[in-house]
Amino acid sequence: MKKIEEYVKSIPDFPEKGIIFRDVTSVLQDADGLHLAIDEMQKFLEGVDFDVIAGTESRGFIFGVPIAYNLHKAFVPVRKKGKLPRETVSAEYELEYGKAEIEMHKDAIQPGQKVVLVDDLIATGGTIEAAARLVEELGGEVVKIIFLMELEGLKGREKLKGYDVESVIHYE
Ligand code: PRP
Ligand code: ADE
Repeated sequence: MKKIEEYVKSIPDFPEKGIIFRDVTSVLQDADGLHLAIDEMQKFLEGVDFDVIAGTESRGFIFGVPIAYNLHKAFVPVRKKGKLPRETVSAEYELEYGKAEIEMHKDAIQPGQKVVLVDDLIATGGTIEAAARLVEELGGEVVKIIFLMELEGLKGREKLKGYDVESVIHYE
């Protein structure tokens, strides 16, 4: 069986010049790749006491839901602005150019719940740091943050000081 990193296709100059895009679809479209990715991410949760997985739109949903299902936990989607129909809390974060905003339903997390954040990839860390802020605004505690891929050169971890962060694949 291939190693998980062998399933990731790296696309130079996408979506713009100078970016190497780490394409998760090449993992998902292979049955062994998909299994391995979920299994490797889920291993980080062995022995971890938690209540809810929160995944960030959209690639965080792909990995968050099967892990939540396997471990019989709830799943909460952290969505891009304007998608959630009920009362929300929202957080802004910096993109390479400009700003973006994500939201959660106000009743998605109960005060005191232990939350695991899941996404496919950490680049600058802006998205996941904003998601952690939302969980905490609702009274939740972020007990773990897990990624399939980490782009270490962008130093996203520096935005996540104080959190327990794990990634399966590390790129320089
Ligand atoms: C990508 C990725 C992470 C985020 C990482 O999502 O899935 O959520 O960017 O970047 P950051 O660490 O610099 O915040 P994107 O916003 O492109 O949305 P998508 O999942 O819908 O493609
Ligand atoms: N999201 C932000 N940077 C990315 C990259 N280099 N590859 C895939 N997804 C990304």
